[in-house]
Amino acid sequence: MSEQANIGVIGVGWVGLVTASCFAELGHQVTAVDIDAAKIDALRAGDVPIHEPGIADLVERNRERLRFTTAIADVLDDALLLFCCVDTPPTYSGDADLSRVQAVVSELSSGGEHVLVMKSTVPAGTGAAIRREMADLAYVSCPEFLKEGSAVDDFMRPDRVVIGADPGDDSAADEVEEVYRPLGGEIVRTDVASAEMIKLAANAFLATKISFINEIANVCEEVGADVTEVARGMGLDKRIGSSFLRPGIGYGGSCFPKDVSALKMLAGNTGYHFQLLTSVIEVNELQKRRVMKKLEKHLGSLAGKKVALLGLAFKPNTDDMREASSLVLAARLHGEGAKVRGYDPVAEAPARELLPSIELCASAESALEGADAAILVTEWPEFATLDWEALRATMATPLIIDGRNFLDPGRLRDAGFAYEGIGRSDGARETGDTREQAQAEAAKTRSR
Ligand code: UDX
Repeated sequence: MSEQANIGVIGVGWVGLVTASCFAELGHQVTAVDIDAAKIDALRAGDVPIHEPGIADLVERNRERLRFTTAIADVLDDALLLFCCVDTPPTYSGDADLSRVQAVVSELSSGGEHVLVMKSTVPAGTGAAIRREMADLAYVSCPEFLKEGSAVDDFMRPDRVVIGADPGDDSAADEVEEVYRPLGGEIVRTDVASAEMIKLAANAFLATKISFINEIANVCEEVGADVTEVARGMGLDKRIGSSFLRPGIGYGGSCFPKDVSALKMLAGNTGYHFQLLTSVIEVNELQKRRVMKKLEKHLGSLAGKKVALLGLAFKPNTDDMREASSLVLAARLHGEGAKVRGYDPVAEAPARELLPSIELCASAESALEGADAAILVTEWPEFATLDWEALRATMATPLIIDGRNFLDPGRLRDAGFAYEGIGRSDGARETGDTREQAQAEAAKTRSR
């Protein structure tokens, strides 16, 4: 294949749009298809439907190399490598819903010279089943590890690129390797089932790390230790590593909850009970609810109390609210009779849809006015630089529950706030803590 290939991308969601625009940036001609005509029209008009740093610039800069279409035939005409980027949401049973992947496979029934490159997260065994169904088609598993909020950078500078192919598809895997090689990450060549498992295992492991540090945080609260110190001391051990040891009010997003559940169910369907993941999921669910006890400790009954949620997205630098902790918190607060307000710098549109019963505010300041408590749900950088001293006077009760250990407890307490973090004892030392780590990470993502 020539150095600059024609690439097809099927499904223009988060992964698909990042894949399409990054390959275009690398000089390839890219044809991207989606069944959502409104989305394709918007992209043709230059409107990027997701909030992701850097993506709008990439789309604009590479207009000449990016073609958006609703006709799969355009992709089949143009491209040899077809990157399948459709989503695989959870079903009621917790398994991955493969109906969109299956729809793609049936569209490709002519097979021909194409290589289907699976970027959608699918259970181990999916690739082998597709390959059996479509013997003419070459099949390569190439799972995606990008994070929302830093997706472009993750794509352009991968830690590793996993390429799984079974006997007979080696030259197709070589073609895929060729388009990724300029990015410089370590290439892991393996079989399809192992590639599928690498993706699920990596996400499940990261989620396990988060649930582990959340449990440690909960024990720290009982014994008077500071989890930020504990995480720092643990993370400096190279075998453990410091990333994904930030405690908080639970992980969310489109991947961790779905993939942990899908791996648990995949194991269960074979008759194996993946006990550890059952606990990881339960710890995460309970972690979102622990905030309620912290509020009640200060306010007693929450009936009629005004509670402000600062941040609604599942993490900063995205407007994605899938599985966000804000959704569970808002429901629990309403359940206790509280009046809930919320503010997020970019997630207003999804919040309007997913949280119709909360009062959406245009700024953090207006959300806090007259509030009995603030809960920092998402560590948006702007919350660190609010004029907390001035805001104290506008609140009915100066209480802040810092769900991401993002704010400076000393400064807030000096300003007269009752401050509760996650796993931090009162007045704990603040050196090298996860607040600094979280703020540094947020600033890094912003400057990319
Ligand atoms: C994740 C994986 O990181 C990525 O490799 C995969 O491709 C998709 O799933 P993403 O969902 O975009 O990416 O977000 P990530 O930054 O991993 O955070 C997921 C959740 O974990 C967020 O809710 C975040 O707040 C939470 N988190 C993360 C913690 O609570 N503590 C941490 O230390 C890290």
